[in-house]
Amino acid sequence: MNSCIVGLQWGDEGKGKVIDILAEHSDIVVRYNGGANAGHTVVIDGNKFALHLLPSGSIRPNIVCVITNAVVVDPDTLLKEIETLAQKNITLTKRLLISENAHVVLDYHKKEDQLREESLGKDKIGTTIRGIGPCYADKVGRSYAVRMADLRDLKKLKARLQTIVEYKNKIFAALYNAEPISADEIFDKCKSYADKLLPFITDTTEFLHKSIANGKSILFEGAQGTMLDIDHGTFPYVTSSNSSALGMSIGCGVPAKMVDKFIGVVKAYTTRVGAGPFPTEQDNEVGQYIRDKGHEYGTTTGRPRRCGWFDAVAVSYAVTIGAIDSVALMHLDTLTGLKKINICRAYKINGKETTFFPANIDRLAQASPVYETVPGWDDALAEANDFNDLPANAQSFIRLIEEMIKVPITIIGVGPERKQTIFR
Ligand code: GDP
Ligand code: IMO
Ligand code: MG
Repeated sequence: MNSCIVGLQWGDEGKGKVIDILAEHSDIVVRYNGGANAGHTVVIDGNKFALHLLPSGSIRPNIVCVITNAVVVDPDTLLKEIETLAQKNITLTKRLLISENAHVVLDYHKKEDQLREESLGKDKIGTTIRGIGPCYADKVGRSYAVRMADLRDLKKLKARLQTIVEYKNKIFAALYNAEPISADEIFDKCKSYADKLLPFITDTTEFLHKSIANGKSILFEGAQGTMLDIDHGTFPYVTSSNSSALGMSIGCGVPAKMVDKFIGVVKAYTTRVGAGPFPTEQDNEVGQYIRDKGHEYGTTTGRPRRCGWFDAVAVSYAVTIGAIDSVALMHLDTLTGLKKINICRAYKINGKETTFFPANIDRLAQASPVYETVPGWDDALAEANDFNDLPANAQSFIRLIEEMIKVPITIIGVGPERKQTIFR
């Protein structure tokens, strides 16, 4: 059985937790898109792990972890993560594979990301400054890209880096009046990356297909969420990879028809970090209540997350384009204490109701949410471990969302811990 876990909102839905749980019954966990912009949290008996590049299955000792072609790998972050786990006696030796065709995020990508964001002022995207956009731009542009396989031939890489850095420095000086970077320093770092990472670098497509043929069970771990997809999200306020379910096959070379189940992850409300449209945003005491109660601060950047009501229009769109089979609804506990809870069931655009999400942001800007209001509950949910343990109003809330998004909610999160999870 192969499954793909994907965010159906604007990221941070709780994918890390769901993957860690489902990894118990898997052999392999695969990261197939994005880079160190992701922050996936796993909490086990009070121990918190924040993973940026390693698959969220890496905490379990026997899982094989794979980072495939469409991931942009920042070796500094990856090596730090491997080291952090090693300090907790979790070793990745002989169970981490990195695609030779994955692109490498280097210091000049992070610098470019930062300089561009600063220069945009109020028009900035609000990126994580992890060099994601510039690295994917180099990939698509081809001429100045560096891939993991390039670490195998350092002589050739040294010459290439001279050309690339010369080009980057011209841009830094001309557009941003910024200090140049040193090709030698970048090369020295690459040499040390090669020393440490070459044993992991391989053909991950071949590995995955052989594993499938041998009956292994694979979990595919999406980063970000559908609304941040470069082609299907709220462009330009998106990330630079295909972060909807559609990105899975492109990202790792395994066709979607070889995946038995696509599981979408949502929060019982909505959050977003960075700029961009957010129709159900509550920039008020409700948003603050959710932020405080749900600890809604970014795992990667620490930024406060924008909070708002559950948006069934946006989630239905993510379900539709991703052919999502079932949904994990996280953070139900965070809503405890609210007297009334809103769910956006439609948008009104120019006086007309629609339930199909307009991904074009000019049309989205004209949309106002149409809410269905339901009564809240006061009971703490942290100890609930069966659907029938939930307060009646919480059960009705879940059933109403199911009706709106037309897929079953089979997993419910009632706290950050692995065990605070209800299976239905
Ligand atoms: P991801 O990027 O989708 O993996 O999500 P993040 O890790 O960035 O953010 C989710 C946050 O919510 C983390 O701090 C998790 O520990 C936490 N979390 C996950 N599920 C639940 C839940 O059901 N209830 C509560 N209270 N916290 C949760
Ligand atoms: P996980 O996997 C939430 C957002 C950034 C910004 C936009 C572009 O933890 O859900 P980028 O650095 O990718 O160029 O930033 O995308 N973003 C995320 N938001 N969760 C994430 O990952 C995100 N990764 C990127 O905040 O708005
Ligand atoms: Mg996150």
